[in-house]
Amino acid sequence: MDTHAVLQDAIAIAQAGGKIALSYFRKPLKMETKASSIDIVTEADKAVELYIAEEILKRYPEHHLVGEEGGGQGAASETAEYFWYVDPIDGTTNFANGIPYFSVSIALTDANRCPLAGVVYDVTRDDVYAAIQGQGATFNGKPLQVSQTSELINSVLVTGFPYDRTTSPDNNLKEWSAFIVQTRSVRCLGSAALDLAYVAAGRVDGYWERGINSWDVLAGMLLVEESGGKVTDYAGNDTPQNKPDKRYLASNGHLHATMIDILQA
Ligand code: IPD
Repeated sequence: MDTHAVLQDAIAIAQAGGKIALSYFRKPLKMETKASSIDIVTEADKAVELYIAEEILKRYPEHHLVGEEGGGQGAASETAEYFWYVDPIDGTTNFANGIPYFSVSIALTDANRCPLAGVVYDVTRDDVYAAIQGQGATFNGKPLQVSQTSELINSVLVTGFPYDRTTSPDNNLKEWSAFIVQTRSVRCLGSAALDLAYVAAGRVDGYWERGINSWDVLAGMLLVEESGGKVTDYAGNDTPQNKPDKRYLASNGHLHATMIDILQA
């Protein structure tokens, strides 16, 4: 597998998909709800995923594609060696409200969901965050590095709230309350993929979120790891993407143990 060539394809496809998203941005949109009344999908999400899926499978028909708005195309998941995880618009709520913080997220993984290459494209800023396993991560072609912050009180963290928060008591309010009084600040920006890219870029020092899907985070996870950071579940176990409870903790590494203590309290 030539991961360099794959990444170049993924970047070009993410940028072209982003252009499609922009053609719908801040215009009247058709939208529907998904699993819960606060989880929406717009016609733009569908159009962008259709484009990305076609472009990927044109080039890699023997791979399997998992997409937020459908997916399931390409080779059978039981036999495929490589998988693509696609979130056509990560941050749909922002997108639908005209807030310019959303991204296209594309990851190539092996059959164990370990990311080999990934891109997060910040559509409205035309910024490309990209990584290849074992070969580092870049921001618009320049190397990325996580922050050096080692004291929680000096950190800025980012999180998101699960779509089942209106009915589940496991709604992140306890964790939010704990971190907001022990850090410089906590943000809820609205695109998990971009949040992880910000951890990789050292703009925020850590991220946690429950109930997040693989297509939201696999590219971002690779960005963090390849920028010197760490990604686990809330208990510090590796490969959170293969755990059923979908809890993700990403940090610059220095804050990881402290964040685990608070998340486990
Ligand atoms: C959502 C965003 C948001 C996060 C949600 C995700 P979507 O993705 O990443 O930041 O808090 O959990 O589902 O639905 O906009 O693709």
